[in-house]
Amino acid sequence: MKKILCVNGPNLNMLGVRETEIYGSMTLGDIEQMVVKEAASLGVEVEFFQSNSEGGIIDRLQAAKGEYSAVIINPGAYSHYSIAIRDTVKAIGLPAIEVHLSNIYAREGFRSQSVIAPVCVGQISGLGAQGYILAIYAFAK
Ligand code: DQA
Repeated sequence: MKKILCVNGPNLNMLGVRETEIYGSMTLGDIEQMVVKEAASLGVEVEFFQSNSEGGIIDRLQAAKGEYSAVIINPGAYSHYSIAIRDTVKAIGLPAIEVHLSNIYAREGFRSQSVIAPVCVGQISGLGAQGYILAIYAFAK
């Protein structure tokens, strides 16, 4: 069975409470439940991981090599400046899709650049929690 690691960065543990007009009312737990269920119907296993720290994300990604076939990552605000996470995504050599709940191109200027997207196979931005499901579909094929 294909195993996918879904990494969520800082403040995504506050989904459902935080800026619901932008990020919606689902909690990260709700999203996880929905994604795990949909993935199972495609014969894919997904494991969720969340950390508010750069080091926590890097350690989890490094440990993923060999255990997972692909990574879905919403790096939160780290998307816009973490060269360290970018280097890790590149270093582990697993195909990765960057997901953003909001449309980062329709918000403040500083959000419209991701330093991580260029080392991913693709990016999904602005489709809410559906973005994670679409990423699963992309890897399931
Ligand atoms: C986000 C977009 C980022 O700019 C922001 O810092 C987040 C969430 C999104 O999913 O839309 O924390 O990654």
